Amino acid sequence: MKILITGGAGFIGSHTTELFVRDGHDVTVVDNFSTGKLSNLASVKAGIKIVELDICDTEALSIACHDVEVVLHLAAVSSVEKSIMEPLKTHEINTTGTLSVLEAARENKARRVVFASSAAIYGDDPQLPKTESSPVRPLSPYAWHKLTGEFYGRHYHLLHGIEFLALRYFNVYGPRQDPASPYSGALSIFNDRSRRGEALTIFGNGEQTRDFIHVSDIASVNLLAAKAQGSLPEIINVATGRETRIIDVARIIQAGYDNKGEIRFEEGRQGDVRRSYASTNLLAQALGYEPLVKMDQGLLSLRGA
Ligand code: UD1
Repeated sequence: MKILITGGAGFIGSHTTELFVRDGHDVTVVDNFSTGKLSNLASVKAGIKIVELDICDTEALSIACHDVEVVLHLAAVSSVEKSIMEPLKTHEINTTGTLSVLEAARENKARRVVFASSAAIYGDDPQLPKTESSPVRPLSPYAWHKLTGEFYGRHYHLLHGIEFLALRYFNVYGPRQDPASPYSGALSIFNDRSRRGEALTIFGNGEQTRDFIHVSDIASVNLLAAKAQGSLPEIINVATGRETRIIDVARIIQAGYDNKGEIRFEEGRQGDVRRSYASTNLLAQALGYEPLVKMDQGLLSLRGA
Protein backbone atom coordinates (compact mmCIF):
# COMPACT_ATOMS: atom_id res chain seq x y z
CA MET A 1 0.00 0.00 0.00
CA LYS A 2 1.17 3.54 -0.70
CA ILE A 3 0.73 5.50 2.51
CA LEU A 4 1.53 9.05 3.57
CA ILE A 5 2.21 9.66 7.27
CA THR A 6 2.06 13.24 8.52
CA GLY A 7 4.24 13.81 11.57
CA GLY A 8 6.08 10.64 10.59
CA ALA A 9 9.36 11.75 12.19
CA GLY A 10 7.76 12.36 15.57
CA PHE A 11 7.32 10.13 18.61
CA ILE A 12 4.26 8.15 17.46
CA GLY A 13 5.01 8.76 13.79
CA SER A 14 8.47 7.22 13.75
CA HIS A 15 7.40 4.02 15.53
CA THR A 16 4.48 3.78 13.11
CA THR A 17 6.67 4.42 10.07
CA GLU A 18 9.06 1.65 11.15
CA LEU A 19 6.18 -0.80 11.43
CA PHE A 20 4.74 0.09 8.00
CA VAL A 21 8.19 -0.38 6.45
CA ARG A 22 8.57 -3.78 8.16
CA ASP A 23 5.14 -4.71 6.81
CA GLY A 24 6.31 -3.94 3.28
CA HIS A 25 4.52 -0.68 2.45
CA ASP A 26 5.57 2.25 0.31
CA VAL A 27 5.84 5.05 2.90
CA THR A 28 6.08 8.81 2.45
CA VAL A 29 6.74 10.76 5.63
CA VAL A 30 5.75 14.40 5.80
CA ASP A 31 7.16 16.42 8.70
CA ASN A 32 8.17 20.02 9.35
CA PHE A 33 10.71 18.83 11.96
CA SER A 34 9.42 21.26 14.57
CA THR A 35 9.42 18.42 17.10
CA GLY A 36 10.08 15.46 14.82
CA LYS A 37 13.68 14.35 14.28
CA LEU A 38 15.40 12.72 11.34
CA SER A 39 17.31 10.58 13.84
CA ASN A 40 13.99 8.97 14.86
CA LEU A 41 13.86 7.47 11.37
CA ALA A 42 17.51 6.33 11.28
CA SER A 43 16.66 2.65 10.88
CA VAL A 44 14.30 3.14 7.92
CA LYS A 45 15.23 6.37 6.19
CA ALA A 46 16.91 4.66 3.24
CA GLY A 47 13.67 2.85 2.36
CA ILE A 48 11.17 5.71 2.60
CA LYS A 49 10.48 9.10 1.06
CA ILE A 50 10.79 12.02 3.47
CA VAL A 51 9.27 15.37 2.54
CA GLU A 52 9.94 18.36 4.75
CA LEU A 53 6.87 20.56 4.72
CA ASP A 54 4.25 22.16 6.88
CA ILE A 55 0.84 20.48 6.70
CA CYS A 56 -0.78 23.92 6.34
CA ASP A 57 0.98 24.24 2.97
CA THR A 58 -1.83 22.41 1.13
CA GLU A 59 -0.25 22.81 -2.29
CA ALA A 60 3.00 21.11 -1.31
CA LEU A 61 1.12 18.53 0.74
CA SER A 62 -1.10 17.71 -2.22
CA ILE A 63 1.96 17.07 -4.38
CA ALA A 64 3.36 14.76 -1.70
CA CYS A 65 0.00 12.93 -1.63
CA HIS A 66 0.15 11.96 -5.30
CA ASP A 67 -1.13 8.38 -5.81
CA VAL A 68 -1.41 7.78 -2.08
CA GLU A 69 -4.07 5.29 -1.02
CA VAL A 70 -4.19 6.02 2.71
CA VAL A 71 -3.20 9.12 4.66
CA LEU A 72 -2.36 8.65 8.32
CA HIS A 73 -2.58 12.08 9.90
CA LEU A 74 -0.51 12.27 13.08
CA ALA A 75 1.06 15.74 12.83
CA ALA A 76 -0.15 17.98 15.66
CA VAL A 77 0.82 19.99 18.68
CA SER A 78 -0.11 17.34 21.20
CA SER A 79 -0.02 19.33 24.43
CA VAL A 80 -3.22 20.35 26.22
CA GLU A 81 -1.27 22.95 28.20
CA LYS A 82 0.35 24.48 25.12
CA SER A 83 -3.03 24.84 23.42
CA ILE A 84 -4.16 27.00 26.35
CA MET A 85 -0.98 29.12 26.25
CA GLU A 86 -0.95 29.47 22.44
CA PRO A 87 -4.52 28.99 21.20
CA LEU A 88 -4.16 30.62 17.77
CA LYS A 89 -0.91 28.97 16.74
CA THR A 90 -2.01 25.53 17.92
CA HIS A 91 -5.42 25.96 16.28
CA GLU A 92 -3.71 26.62 12.97
CA ILE A 93 -1.58 23.48 13.16
CA ASN A 94 -4.18 21.18 14.69
CA THR A 95 -7.39 22.35 13.01
CA THR A 96 -6.44 24.17 9.82
CA GLY A 97 -3.69 21.58 9.36
CA THR A 98 -6.21 18.75 9.55
CA LEU A 99 -8.47 20.46 7.02
CA SER A 100 -5.46 20.87 4.76
CA VAL A 101 -4.67 17.15 5.03
CA LEU A 102 -8.27 16.25 4.16
CA GLU A 103 -8.18 18.59 1.20
CA ALA A 104 -4.90 17.11 -0.10
CA ALA A 105 -6.38 13.61 0.34
CA ARG A 106 -9.51 14.62 -1.59
CA GLU A 107 -7.55 16.22 -4.42
CA ASN A 108 -5.55 13.02 -4.84
CA LYS A 109 -8.53 10.67 -4.47
CA ALA A 110 -7.02 8.91 -1.47
CA ARG A 111 -9.27 6.08 -0.28
CA ARG A 112 -8.99 6.61 3.47
CA VAL A 113 -7.79 9.13 6.03
CA VAL A 114 -6.92 7.83 9.50
CA PHE A 115 -6.82 10.67 12.01
CA ALA A 116 -5.00 10.75 15.34
CA SER A 117 -7.76 12.02 17.58
CA SER A 118 -7.73 12.12 21.35
CA ALA A 119 -9.40 11.00 24.54
CA ALA A 120 -9.15 14.64 25.60
CA ILE A 121 -12.40 15.11 23.68
CA TYR A 122 -14.37 13.36 26.45
CA GLY A 123 -13.22 15.91 29.03
CA ASP A 124 -14.76 15.44 32.43
CA ASP A 125 -17.86 13.51 31.50
CA PRO A 126 -18.37 11.40 34.64
CA GLN A 127 -19.34 8.26 32.74
CA LEU A 128 -16.54 5.71 32.91
CA PRO A 129 -15.12 3.94 31.07
CA LYS A 130 -15.32 6.32 28.14
CA THR A 131 -17.01 4.69 25.19
CA GLU A 132 -17.09 6.04 21.67
CA SER A 133 -20.69 7.13 22.27
CA SER A 134 -19.95 8.92 25.56
CA PRO A 135 -20.79 12.63 25.51
CA VAL A 136 -17.96 14.89 24.39
CA ARG A 137 -17.05 17.74 26.72
CA PRO A 138 -13.79 19.39 25.65
CA LEU A 139 -11.97 21.23 28.44
CA SER A 140 -9.15 22.70 26.37
CA PRO A 141 -8.54 24.23 22.95
CA TYR A 142 -6.58 21.06 22.12
CA ALA A 143 -9.67 18.91 22.73
CA TRP A 144 -11.74 21.24 20.54
CA HIS A 145 -9.09 21.01 17.79
CA LYS A 146 -9.34 17.23 17.80
CA LEU A 147 -13.14 17.25 17.92
CA THR A 148 -13.24 19.73 15.04
CA GLY A 149 -10.88 17.47 13.10
CA GLU A 150 -13.31 14.61 13.59
CA PHE A 151 -16.21 16.77 12.36
CA TYR A 152 -14.26 17.86 9.28
CA GLY A 153 -13.36 14.24 8.59
CA ARG A 154 -17.00 13.19 8.80
CA HIS A 155 -17.89 16.06 6.49
CA TYR A 156 -15.31 14.92 3.92
CA HIS A 157 -16.73 11.43 4.15
CA LEU A 158 -20.32 12.56 3.60
CA LEU A 159 -19.51 15.09 0.92
CA HIS A 160 -16.60 13.48 -0.92
CA GLY A 161 -16.85 9.80 -0.03
CA ILE A 162 -13.41 9.54 1.60
CA GLU A 163 -13.31 6.83 4.26
CA PHE A 164 -12.53 8.53 7.55
CA LEU A 165 -11.51 6.90 10.79
CA ALA A 166 -10.72 8.81 13.98
CA LEU A 167 -8.57 6.90 16.43
CA ARG A 168 -9.06 8.40 19.87
CA TYR A 169 -5.69 7.71 21.46
CA PHE A 170 -5.58 7.76 25.22
CA ASN A 171 -2.24 8.55 26.93
CA VAL A 172 0.61 7.32 24.77
CA TYR A 173 4.09 6.71 26.22
CA GLY A 174 7.29 5.00 25.19
CA PRO A 175 10.79 5.54 23.84
CA ARG A 176 11.44 8.76 21.85
CA GLN A 177 8.79 10.76 23.68
CA ASP A 178 10.71 13.96 24.28
CA PRO A 179 10.92 14.84 27.99
CA ALA A 180 12.57 18.20 27.39
CA SER A 181 9.60 20.51 27.45
CA PRO A 182 7.15 21.23 30.27
CA TYR A 183 4.50 20.33 27.68
CA SER A 184 5.82 16.78 27.26
CA GLY A 185 3.91 13.67 28.30
CA ALA A 186 3.98 13.04 32.05
CA LEU A 187 5.70 9.65 31.91
CA SER A 188 8.60 10.87 29.79
CA ILE A 189 9.14 13.75 32.25
CA PHE A 190 8.89 11.48 35.30
CA ASN A 191 11.35 9.02 33.79
CA ASP A 192 13.86 11.66 32.79
CA ARG A 193 13.77 13.43 36.14
CA SER A 194 13.92 10.21 38.14
CA ARG A 195 16.95 9.08 36.17
CA ARG A 196 18.71 12.31 37.17
CA GLY A 197 17.55 12.04 40.79
CA GLU A 198 15.49 15.22 40.40
CA ALA A 199 12.18 16.03 42.06
CA LEU A 200 8.93 15.18 40.29
CA THR A 201 6.14 17.73 40.11
CA ILE A 202 2.57 16.56 40.39
CA PHE A 203 -0.07 19.02 39.27
CA GLY A 204 -3.03 18.75 41.62
CA ASN A 205 -3.24 15.93 44.17
CA GLY A 206 -2.10 13.19 41.80
CA GLU A 207 -5.44 11.39 42.09
CA GLN A 208 -6.24 12.17 38.46
CA THR A 209 -6.15 9.05 36.33
CA ARG A 210 -5.14 8.13 32.81
CA ASP A 211 -5.24 5.09 30.54
CA PHE A 212 -1.61 4.69 29.44
CA ILE A 213 -0.91 2.84 26.21
CA HIS A 214 2.52 1.98 24.86
CA VAL A 215 3.57 3.51 21.55
CA SER A 216 4.26 0.08 20.00
CA ASP A 217 0.58 -0.81 20.51
CA ILE A 218 -0.41 2.49 18.92
CA ALA A 219 1.77 1.69 15.89
CA SER A 220 0.09 -1.72 15.56
CA VAL A 221 -3.37 -0.16 15.67
CA ASN A 222 -2.36 2.43 13.08
CA LEU A 223 -1.26 -0.35 10.75
CA LEU A 224 -4.49 -2.30 11.23
CA ALA A 225 -6.57 0.84 10.72
CA ALA A 226 -4.84 1.60 7.44
CA LYS A 227 -5.09 -1.97 6.13
CA ALA A 228 -8.59 -2.93 7.28
CA GLN A 229 -10.97 -3.76 4.47
CA GLY A 230 -14.67 -2.98 4.38
CA SER A 231 -16.58 -0.56 6.49
CA LEU A 232 -15.19 0.60 9.81
CA PRO A 233 -16.68 2.63 12.64
CA GLU A 234 -16.04 6.37 12.42
CA ILE A 235 -14.38 6.52 15.83
CA ILE A 236 -12.38 3.96 17.81
CA ASN A 237 -10.85 4.36 21.27
CA VAL A 238 -7.23 3.25 21.40
CA ALA A 239 -6.30 2.38 24.96
CA THR A 240 -5.76 -0.53 27.34
CA GLY A 241 -8.91 -0.13 29.44
CA ARG A 242 -6.81 0.21 32.61
CA GLU A 243 -7.04 3.24 34.90
CA THR A 244 -3.82 4.44 36.59
CA ARG A 245 -3.42 7.31 39.06
CA ILE A 246 -0.72 9.83 38.20
CA ILE A 247 0.74 9.70 41.71
CA ASP A 248 1.04 5.91 41.50
CA VAL A 249 2.83 5.87 38.20
CA ALA A 250 5.16 8.65 39.43
CA ARG A 251 6.09 6.52 42.45
CA ILE A 252 6.57 3.37 40.36
CA ILE A 253 8.92 5.18 37.99
CA GLN A 254 10.88 6.71 40.88
CA ALA A 255 11.18 3.36 42.60
CA GLY A 256 13.00 2.00 39.57
CA TYR A 257 15.95 4.34 40.16
CA ASP A 258 18.40 4.42 43.10
CA ASN A 259 18.86 8.10 43.51
CA LYS A 260 15.35 9.29 44.39
CA GLY A 261 14.23 12.90 44.33
CA GLU A 262 11.21 14.18 46.19
CA ILE A 263 7.66 14.49 44.87
CA ARG A 264 6.32 18.05 44.92
CA PHE A 265 2.72 19.05 44.52
CA GLU A 266 1.67 22.15 42.61
CA GLU A 267 -1.66 23.64 41.69
CA GLY A 268 -3.63 21.54 39.18
CA ARG A 269 -3.43 22.49 35.53
CA GLN A 270 -6.23 24.29 33.74
CA GLY A 271 -8.09 22.06 31.34
CA ASP A 272 -6.85 18.93 33.11
CA VAL A 273 -9.18 15.93 32.88
CA ARG A 274 -9.77 14.26 36.28
CA ARG A 275 -10.41 10.64 35.39
CA SER A 276 -9.88 8.90 32.10
CA TYR A 277 -9.94 5.32 30.95
CA ALA A 278 -11.50 3.66 27.97
CA SER A 279 -13.80 0.94 26.94
CA THR A 280 -11.77 -1.03 24.41
CA ASN A 281 -14.63 -3.20 23.15
CA LEU A 282 -14.80 -1.51 19.77
CA LEU A 283 -11.03 -1.74 19.29
CA ALA A 284 -11.34 -5.49 19.81
CA GLN A 285 -14.45 -5.88 17.65
CA ALA A 286 -13.61 -3.63 14.72
CA LEU A 287 -9.85 -4.13 14.46
CA GLY A 288 -9.45 -7.37 16.42
CA TYR A 289 -6.76 -5.81 18.58
CA GLU A 290 -5.86 -6.14 22.21
CA PRO A 291 -2.89 -4.08 23.45
CA LEU A 292 0.12 -6.26 24.20
CA VAL A 293 2.42 -4.15 26.37
CA LYS A 294 1.79 -4.25 30.12
CA MET A 295 2.68 -1.18 32.17
CA ASP A 296 5.72 -2.74 33.90
CA GLN A 297 7.23 -3.80 30.55
CA GLY A 298 6.36 -0.45 29.04
CA LEU A 299 8.05 1.50 31.82
CA LEU A 300 11.16 -0.65 31.39
CA SER A 301 11.27 0.38 27.72
CA LEU A 302 11.59 4.01 28.90
CA ARG A 303 14.74 3.29 30.88
CA GLY A 304 16.79 2.59 27.80
CA ALA A 305 15.31 5.58 25.95
C1 UD1 B 1 -2.20 13.58 26.91
C2 UD1 B 1 -1.47 13.92 25.62
C3 UD1 B 1 -2.44 14.37 24.59
C4 UD1 B 1 -3.48 13.27 24.44
C5 UD1 B 1 -4.20 13.04 25.75
C6 UD1 B 1 -5.21 11.90 25.67
C7 UD1 B 1 0.86 14.63 25.81
C8 UD1 B 1 1.80 15.75 26.03
N1 UD1 B 1 -0.45 14.95 25.87
O1 UD1 B 1 -2.73 14.75 27.54
O2 UD1 B 1 -1.80 14.59 23.37
O3 UD1 B 1 -4.37 13.58 23.42
O4 UD1 B 1 -3.22 12.65 26.70
O5 UD1 B 1 -5.75 11.64 26.92
O6 UD1 B 1 1.26 13.51 25.59
N2 UD1 B 1 1.31 15.88 35.07
C9 UD1 B 1 1.96 16.02 36.29
N3 UD1 B 1 3.28 16.35 36.28
C10 UD1 B 1 3.99 16.54 35.14
C11 UD1 B 1 3.32 16.40 33.89
C12 UD1 B 1 1.97 16.06 33.90
O7 UD1 B 1 1.34 15.85 37.35
O8 UD1 B 1 5.19 16.84 35.22
C13 UD1 B 1 -0.11 15.48 35.08
C14 UD1 B 1 -1.01 16.38 34.26
O9 UD1 B 1 -1.48 17.45 35.03
C15 UD1 B 1 -2.13 15.39 33.89
C16 UD1 B 1 -1.39 14.05 33.75
O10 UD1 B 1 -0.17 14.19 34.46
O11 UD1 B 1 -3.07 15.28 34.92
C17 UD1 B 1 -1.08 13.68 32.30
O12 UD1 B 1 -0.52 14.81 31.69
P1 UD1 B 1 0.08 14.79 30.20
O13 UD1 B 1 1.02 13.67 30.06
O14 UD1 B 1 0.54 16.15 29.89
O15 UD1 B 1 -1.16 14.32 29.34
P2 UD1 B 1 -2.68 14.81 29.13
O16 UD1 B 1 -2.87 16.23 29.52
O17 UD1 B 1 -3.55 13.75 29.70
